[in-house]
Amino acid sequence: MSQSVSTIGVGYVGVSTSVGFAAKGCKVLAYDKDLAKTNLLIEGLSPFYERELEEHLQRVRRDGFFEIASNVEEAVKNTDITFVTVGTPSRADGTINLDYIKASTTDIGKALVKKEGYHLVVVKSTVIPGTTVNMVKPLLEKTSNRQCGEDFGLCMNPEFLREGSGLYDTIHPDRIVIGEYDRKSGDTLESLYNHFHREEKPPIVRTNLSTAELIKYANNAFLATKISYINSIANICEKIPETDIKTVAKAIGLDKRINPKFLRAGLGYGGSCFPKDLKALIAFSKQNNYHPSLLKAVQKVNQQQIDHVIDRIETQLGELTNKKICLLGLSFKPDTDDMREARSIPIINQLLAKGARIAVYDPIAISNAKVIFGNEVEYASSVPECLENSECCILVTEWSEFKELEPEDFIKKMKTPLLVDGRRIFDPEIFGQKLKYVAIGLGPPKIG
Ligand code: UGA
Repeated sequence: MSQSVSTIGVGYVGVSTSVGFAAKGCKVLAYDKDLAKTNLLIEGLSPFYERELEEHLQRVRRDGFFEIASNVEEAVKNTDITFVTVGTPSRADGTINLDYIKASTTDIGKALVKKEGYHLVVVKSTVIPGTTVNMVKPLLEKTSNRQCGEDFGLCMNPEFLREGSGLYDTIHPDRIVIGEYDRKSGDTLESLYNHFHREEKPPIVRTNLSTAELIKYANNAFLATKISYINSIANICEKIPETDIKTVAKAIGLDKRINPKFLRAGLGYGGSCFPKDLKALIAFSKQNNYHPSLLKAVQKVNQQQIDHVIDRIETQLGELTNKKICLLGLSFKPDTDDMREARSIPIINQLLAKGARIAVYDPIAISNAKVIFGNEVEYASSVPECLENSECCILVTEWSEFKELEPEDFIKKMKTPLLVDGRRIFDPEIFGQKLKYVAIGLGPPKIG
């Protein structure tokens, strides 16, 4: 591959993008101001957990396709295309903080001053519509004293990677969205992807910068909407004897216009993306005098799902003071140790406020959870230890090791076996007969 690539920011998007391009034979230079992260990468270790990522990382390091730059100038000067993959965290009012975008854009601009020939800058970070054209472009022009379109190109290329499968999603995207400042910028980026996806080329949507930015938000907001929608129907199921959301979701998912994905009812969505992106899209809409009622309802349903599950526990147990409740799974989804906006957080906070004693177990997120809960909860190192003497168990994250559990595992250890299946992983026929089994979206049994 002739083009070489640099990435600024080695969060999961930066690492997945870097390792993905390097695995396809492209020379990659990555930079991050956080030396702790880049030092790990130099050692072939990932700064976050993702199955099999380190194997690929070590291979591309060994083959010399993935190097770490010690500053942005080195990264820009020695490559043809620079991807901006820095974080855009939420501010208290829901808008996004663009400090990292501004800082990296400034550094790239300064590096362009010393660079011979054409260079393409690609914003991959999630940014609100208008950011690339109204902020990144003028800042690059000011700091480089060069002109966008003439001396350097500019694209906005959103990513749709899921945490935990970032590398797989980089290599097998459903589509590629290229927002371009001008045709040359778009052609340059498309040719990089043409090489990347030589064997099986995904559809490529070429558009302008702001549309590409909006596509990212619209995509995540739609997926979050599907989740809140199915959770609303799940709550209706709970009012109708002998209904089950899983059957409803399966049947509606078979409608090709709906499709089966993101129809798993449960405790709602968490993570570093859906909550943040929804907040940002709502804040952006309001700033532009549009009140997005649907998006606000999606958020509200997601929050209410937690109150709903706590209500159901109180209906079963009464007062929660001093009752031991245990949680299986803490991370926002399985196969990650990421606790950002995890559903376990509001559940634990509400239960603690009601005086319950909490024990928790997660296969890998315990150390991150300790930062959040300190010594307010008991940390168990196994499922049986977590269940010991508890009066209620809430299945919060559907790790595969929990799917192996049998009713007896709960009965043997718990003081009163009440199981709340927050992710619908257990069979109601089997569990419903042997213990008190409360499940999201499961209607009551037939009366009489
Ligand atoms: C999400 C999107 O899926 C990615 O396409 C996007 O690139 C990424 O955000 C991002 O913006 O960077 P991610 O946050 O890693 O990816 O997680 P998902 O696998 O989408 O799950 C998000 C949450 O929804 C999890 O808490 C999960 O438990 C929940 N979920 C998912 C459900 O409750 N039901 C479902 O049917 C699916």
